[in-house]
Amino acid sequence: MTTETKRAADRPAEGGAEPHPTILETSGVTLRFGGLTSLDHVDLAMRRGEILAIIGPNGAGKTSLFNSLTGAYLPQEGAITYRPRAGGEEELRGRKPFRVSRLGLARTFQNIRLFGALTALENVKIAVETRQRTDAVSIMLGLPHARRAERDSDRRAHEVMRFVGLEHRINELAASLSYGEQRRLEIARALATEPELLLLDEPAAGTNPTEKHDLEELIRRINTELGVSVLLIEHDMRLVMSVADRVAVLNFGRKIAEGTPGQVQRDPAVIEAYLGASDEEEAEAVADLVADLDAEHADDPEWRGGDRAAEGRSNDGEERP
Ligand SMILES: Nc1ncnc2c1ncn2[C@@H]1O[C@H](COP(=O)(O)OP(=O)(O)OP(=O)(O)O)[C@@H](O)[C@H]1O
Ligand SMILES: [Mg+2]
Repeated sequence: MTTETKRAADRPAEGGAEPHPTILETSGVTLRFGGLTSLDHVDLAMRRGEILAIIGPNGAGKTSLFNSLTGAYLPQEGAITYRPRAGGEEELRGRKPFRVSRLGLARTFQNIRLFGALTALENVKIAVETRQRTDAVSIMLGLPHARRAERDSDRRAHEVMRFVGLEHRINELAASLSYGEQRRLEIARALATEPELLLLDEPAAGTNPTEKHDLEELIRRINTELGVSVLLIEHDMRLVMSVADRVAVLNFGRKIAEGTPGQVQRDPAVIEAYLGASDEEEAEAVADLVADLDAEHADDPEWRGGDRAAEGRSNDGEERP
């Protein structure tokens, strides 16, 4: 960890005790759908304040892991331990999604889920209001504490929109925003709940290179300026390798590697897993990865990553350039 605010994530909890260095831990998490094992005894430890990327080919179990962490899926086996900064331990397996959110986890979705007919600001205000405890009757009657809550949520929503760079779009309908802006709005909505841990499921999917670059900056700022730990699922290898402190790799529901971006890139099991992928996007990811590796190993006579990639792709019957 390099920046001051990364350390903000480690600041002592109220009462002076140092927060536990591991914010989230999964142990033996196993999720099955009929005969299909979507997560197979996954052990993962996430450090407080880090950006941890989860990568792996299509169908590897990445989204299933997010769904298991946030209460959407109930794994048949294993434990998911979350340690809030304030102290204590919470078992997340089997918790209801809104309870998980109250504990300080927020997520975005692989398929954008916004209220398209509401404005961008309203989308964020709804999320802020999930943190408030104002009841519907007080709101209808316009009671003073309800009016105060409304002002607070408005202010907070504006703040978050400014942070993600969407302040000029607040009154637009969510559906009318560009794809990249919608992805940002989803992140704004997640941040509005003031999470300690943010889970991003393919935030760069469908975005153009400029939007990807802006997104990379935003993820960094969320981590360093807000002190939020970030768990990131992403197929874009350049984004992953540049933004992640560490990377964990899933393949067929199993964790096959974990380490720094550099360690994971060199891991033969990871290269093999990606070479087995038939999807076009994955093939591109492999091509990117291998190009980076080849450049990095230009002076290394032992290195044969590019050869392996060529073998893998020709096995698929694809033409080599
Ligand atoms: N609700 C479900 N019912 C049945 N099978 C499911 C369900 N959710 C996930 N799966 C299966 O679990 C496996 C893992 O899927 P998951 O969506 O977690 O993969 P992923 O790594 O997120 O893939 P992608 O990169 O394509 O998003 C797949 O075989 C998928 O079909
Ligand atoms: Mg997925």
